Amino acid sequence: MARIVSDKKKLHLYLRAASEESTLSVPRCRHFGECGGCEFQNITYEAQLDLKRRALAFIAEAVLAEDAPPVEGGLPAAIRSLADMLAGVEPELVASPLPFSYRQRMDYVYAFDKAGLRRAHRHRQVVELEECPLLGGEGFGVFRAALDLAKREELPSYDYMRHVGDLRYFVVRRSRSGGVMLSLVTKTLERGDAVRKILGELLDSSLIVSGHWLHAPGMGDVSFGSRIEHVGEPTIDECLNGVRLGIGPNTFFQANPVVAETAYARIAGFLTKNDLVLDMYSGVGSIALTVAGNAGKVLAAENQPENVILARRNIAVNAVDNVELVESDAVHFLQVQTTADGVRPDAIVVNPPRPGVGVEGIDAIARIAPARIAYLSCNPFTLLRDMRRLAVGYALQSLTLFDMFPQTRHFETLALFERR
Ligand SMILES: C[S@@+](CC[C@H](N)C(=O)[O-])C[C@H]1O[C@@H](n2cnc3c(N)ncnc32)[C@H](O)[C@@H]1O
Repeated sequence: MARIVSDKKKLHLYLRAASEESTLSVPRCRHFGECGGCEFQNITYEAQLDLKRRALAFIAEAVLAEDAPPVEGGLPAAIRSLADMLAGVEPELVASPLPFSYRQRMDYVYAFDKAGLRRAHRHRQVVELEECPLLGGEGFGVFRAALDLAKREELPSYDYMRHVGDLRYFVVRRSRSGGVMLSLVTKTLERGDAVRKILGELLDSSLIVSGHWLHAPGMGDVSFGSRIEHVGEPTIDECLNGVRLGIGPNTFFQANPVVAETAYARIAGFLTKNDLVLDMYSGVGSIALTVAGNAGKVLAAENQPENVILARRNIAVNAVDNVELVESDAVHFLQVQTTADGVRPDAIVVNPPRPGVGVEGIDAIARIAPARIAYLSCNPFTLLRDMRRLAVGYALQSLTLFDMFPQTRHFETLALFERR
């Protein structure tokens, strides 16, 4: 955890310095500068892309410099291999066709009687938002309508510093085919009357198709929770590369579906028709199902029960007969199940959360030794650290930066490897 915070800081300092040389642009949103949601509306989109390209190079250098005590004859073997691996590959950059209105989901915090996003560099303050150009379609209007109703119902906001109050988050998710899901995340179960009224009125006025009441009683600042009740549909559908995917209130889904389609298509193109593929950290089956047509069989592993249920439903809805979902910890699956069942995959796809796959998982993958590995990552620091362990046995075929998050410092990276 400490390492992730310091990675954030390193990248922040680098980007702040680098962005000072960038071409300026007029910010689109009135809240830019005070709101912590966007960092780069004041520079052109081309300059943002250039900044991210440089950020990836900066991170690679930082990781190469880590844990590399000088040894006789130069760098240790794994570090040297990572340097060689990177030296031969020029990263490609895929821009977002939509620099604004690209987000499928926004989590608007409600605290100190203000609803919106945290103030830039001031975690203890919230900026009340009157607009938010990141969220596409009708999503922002739904948030504002829900906020008005919460105020009318006197449903108190939740003070996350003193731990008093009730309504913590408005989570808005919208699908491109139409349909908004709104989740109200509360600390207590005391104001069911108000929550039901808010969700019911939004459903009756057709502003949402799905409304959830989620309960998050802990001290942690979370925008998910136990499902208490819902109105309308339990899920909404998004279509990615021709595959219909049901999304629930607590399930992961890529924030920028247009760019996600391109990234998933890249992974599909890396596979061959007869491949036995493992898809680790599979969520609701987005990658497994979109690559299934390019593979012999896909075995997917996911450990969150709500995702597992939805992934199995998504497999059935799309009538795909070559994808199987296993409820399992990904590392356990790689270490134990592949050995016990004699599974010999040709390709392994991993798309882990921010901490990455880690030493045990990467060592298990290296032991399985598939011909191809696709690693899609939201955290280039952990990706590069994991790559360091793969570098001895694998060659990097390509490295692609997908700009899933314009106006912010974040991006997604896809690394494709072939066994040496
Ligand atoms: C970045 S998301 C990727 C989801 C999916 N590949 C997609 O593109 O939508 C990571 C997923 O890994 C799951 N996950 C987290 N830790 C895990 C673990 N130890 N074992 C298996 N799955 C895990 C999360 O629940 C989440 O669905």
